[in-house]
Amino acid sequence: MKNKARERTSPSASQSYPTGASDLNQLNRAVQRSLQHIKHKIMVISGKGGVGKSFIASSLAVGLAKRRFKVGLMDVDLHGPSIPKMLGLDRARLGSKEGLMTPAKLLDGLSIVSIGFLLQSENDAIIWRGPLKSSAIKQFIGQVKWEELDYLVIDLPPGTGDEPLSIAQAIPDARAVIVTTPQEISLSDVRKCISFIRRVNLSLVGVIENMSGLTCPHCGKRIEPFKSGGGERMAREMGAPFLGRLPMDPAIVTACDEGKPYSLFYAQNLAARALEKIVEKIIKSE
Ligand SMILES: Nc1ncnc2c1ncn2[C@@H]1O[C@H](COP(=O)(O)OP(=O)(O)OP(=O)(O)O)[C@@H](O)[C@H]1O
Ligand SMILES: [Mg+2]
Ligand SMILES: [Zn+2]
Repeated sequence: MKNKARERTSPSASQSYPTGASDLNQLNRAVQRSLQHIKHKIMVISGKGGVGKSFIASSLAVGLAKRRFKVGLMDVDLHGPSIPKMLGLDRARLGSKEGLMTPAKLLDGLSIVSIGFLLQSENDAIIWRGPLKSSAIKQFIGQVKWEELDYLVIDLPPGTGDEPLSIAQAIPDARAVIVTTPQEISLSDVRKCISFIRRVNLSLVGVIENMSGLTCPHCGKRIEPFKSGGGERMAREMGAPFLGRLPMDPAIVTACDEGKPYSLFYAQNLAARALEKIVEKIIKSE
């Protein structure tokens, strides 16, 4: 049964995706229909790749579910859908109900959908080049059957290019969380993100500075490979709320590689505690 659902909904090279204006309206409507019973949509964005966006998106979802909210986590990054692996769900598949796809479950109250659940091999990503990508992603979003949710956390593809832009445009009532790293060079990325948000008319929850300093596991000294505080300064300059800093923690890499949710397995670590505070701020930010 599950395999059948996968065959039917799995995108393939031979499938054609609509790109005309009326088709796009139809796709956007399907996206909005799919998300209509969700109270809060939080989109995690970054100006560039590799800053910890997927880690943070999954941690926020786990953190919200720990607080007994009904939470969804949606990974629409075609290039590198990393959430299944990070949460130990790489063997999970989507179910089906009423002709739509149903999410995988991680915890009580946490449902997860990843475009990675549809990709059968890494090579599949290659097929998805070109302007059809955003349409394919929207089609994917439109075909998910969510239960009523308090929060949906959406992990967008990295950057502020056409693809994340067109997805964000299809979900105009989402609020954005920006992830950045502390070095000066990242700060122009925050600027880019803020203008992205303004272009799409999303409201901004705030900025998170990730990989901000590290406590040496050998001598306990603080090291700042990427400096620290840049994200906060930038947020302040741009009049954007600052949500907090996450230090670098080797346990994050281990947790992500082993598919163990960091906030559950390393709840006592500094970054996990910082994430808890960020989750609280997000809840209060409504
Ligand atoms: N604070 C941190 N300390 C240590 N490692 C981290 C931290 N945050 C993220 N990482 C690690 O950095 C790597 C990249 O993180 P992640 O995949 O979340 O980034 P991303 O922004 O989603 O990347 P992409 O642009 O490829 O989608 C992962 O291996 C993750 O475990
Ligand atoms: Mg990612
Ligand atoms: Zn040391």
